[in-house]
Order: sequence, then structure tokens, then C-alpha cells
Amino acid sequence: MARLAGKVALITGASRGIGAAIARAFVAEGAAQMVLTDVLDEAGKAVAASLGQAASYQTLDVRDEAAWERATADILAAFGRLDVVVNNAGITGLETGSARHDPEFASLPDWRAVHETNLDGTFLGCKHAIRAMRQAGQGGSIINIASRSGLVGIPGACAYAASKAAIRNHTKSVALYCAGQGLAVRCNAIFPAAIMTPMWAPLLAGLEGATLDARIASFVADTPLRRFGRPEEVAALAVLLASDESSYVTGSEFVIDGGLLAGAAASPKQ
Ligand SMILES: NC(=O)c1ccc[n+]([C@@H]2O[C@H](COP(=O)([O-])OP(=O)(O)OC[C@H]3O[C@@H](n4cnc5c(N)ncnc54)[C@H](O)[C@@H]3O)[C@@H](O)[C@H]2O)c1
Repeated sequence: MARLAGKVALITGASRGIGAAIARAFVAEGAAQMVLTDVLDEAGKAVAASLGQAASYQTLDVRDEAAWERATADILAAFGRLDVVVNNAGITGLETGSARHDPEFASLPDWRAVHETNLDGTFLGCKHAIRAMRQAGQGGSIINIASRSGLVGIPGACAYAASKAAIRNHTKSVALYCAGQGLAVRCNAIFPAAIMTPMWAPLLAGLEGATLDARIASFVADTPLRRFGRPEEVAALAVLLASDESSYVTGSEFVIDGGLLAGAAASPKQ
């Protein structure tokens, strides 16, 4: 039995990386309709086309509230329900150029830009998911993609870390609000650590062969499983949270990090 049979889902940032993997996994698990959204239109259309009739693509800049209103209204008009919203779109702020993102030198515009996409985008996604799910009256599941960077300090990417920490807290407010409203809408967060996606390109740029391998190994040297995670491994967790198998799970946080946060650098060596 397909685990997401009959469900209609919307994912943000679905043109590549973790979002595309979640879209693929949802379709493989029988989702009735998978609406992929992003601002990278050509890539998003190609991913949707590769998934067949059950998938479609539309532009959605998560910072734009009018776009959220249009997208959710279109889905309700077309399918009469919206069961799952995955707030996945995110930026580190380190994508373009070498501007510093530490607490002493980060600029206010850079700080705000990261929060606008990661935090405001997630706020808007939760808001319009709740409204659409209330209207459809079928309950639902909201999944916010935070980061292990929201659980610890990241001196070189402080806006990213702060925005992901705020997503952690907002997830709990949404979960409690929906439960209090008797809506049967659950909200949970996933906290990945290093997952190999295009997000890592700026940090690996210009390296090849042994140099690239060494750089990749250096990023996961402290990870007990000693490797990057795969987008499909995050998608498997998203399938669980989207499905009715997790019907008693809300306001929870799921770390997927190869064991990174299980220990501490201060632990005695074996
Ligand atoms: N890859 C990792 O190691 C890692 C670790 C922890 C958390 N995450 C989180 O997982 C999520 C997905 O990351 P990824 O690694 O797949 O990154 P990615 O850069 O490969 O994909 C992010 C997608 O979000 C889209 N996007 C950016 N700004 C947007 C906007 N304003 N509106 C709509 N879409 C927008 C991009 O176009 C892109 O397709 C992000 O929230 C990221 O912070 C990733």
C-alpha cells in the first residue's frame, strides 16, 4: 500500500537538492498530486516532468505572500484538498560572493535577506498551509526543514543559524496552535546536518580530484558516520512525517546528522 496515497502536497525549493528528493519520494509513495515550487523555473519544470502526471511545477517565491495566496487557492480549486506542505526553500547567505556572515561583520541587509527567505518564508508557508488545510477540512501535515545549524552556534553563518533556530521554535507554536484549534494539522521539523546538494557548491568550488575529496572529508571528519548524508535519506523522514503513520507526532524535531550531535568534542576518546 502506497504510504501517501490520495495526498496532495506542496514543496518549496523543489527544483534541486533535498526538495527535489522529497518530491520524488512523495510521488514514489503514491501522492495523488505533488506541486513542486521554486524560483528556479527551468530546473523545477524538468524535475516535475520527470515525475509524470502526478507532479506539476509552479513558481513560488516563498517571501511573497500574494504568491502563497495564489498557490494555495489554485490547489484547493483544482484538487479540493491540501494535505502536506514542506517548507524546504532556504539559503545560507554564502551563495554569492565572499561577504562575511559572522556576528561582528555581517551586514544588516545580508542578515535580513537570509531571514526573509528562511524564516519569513517558513512563517508564510505555515500560515497559508493552516488556512488552506482548515478550509479543506481534512487535517494535514506541515514539515519545516530547519538545520542542525539551528541547534548549535555557527560563527561563520550566524544569520543562517539564527533563522533555523527560529524555525525550530515556530514549528512548536504552529503545532500547539493547530492542536488548540482542533484542526488535526500536525507540524514538525527536520534538522539535517551535511547533506550533499548544490548548497555546498560555493564551499567546494574550484576543487577537483584528491583536493575535492580531502575537502569533503574535512567537512565530515567529526561526523560519527564519516560521510555526507544523501537527499534521499532526508526524504525518507519527510515521507514518514507526511504519512498517517506519524498521526500522533506534532511539535517534534527530528535530527538527521550521521550522529554529529549525539556527542561532544570534549568526549573522552575510545
Ligand atoms: N544540504 C545541507 O547540508 C543542508 C543541511 C541542513 C539544512 N538544509 C536545508 O535544507 C533545505 C534545502 O537545502 P538544499 O541543500 O537542498 O539546498 P539547495 O540550494 O540545493 O536548494 C534550495 C532550493 O531553494 C530554492 N530557493 C531559494 N530561495 C528561494 C525563494 N526565495 N523562494 C523559493 N525557493 C527558493 C533554491 O532555488 C533551491 O532550488 C534548506 O532549507 C537548507 O537550509 C540543508
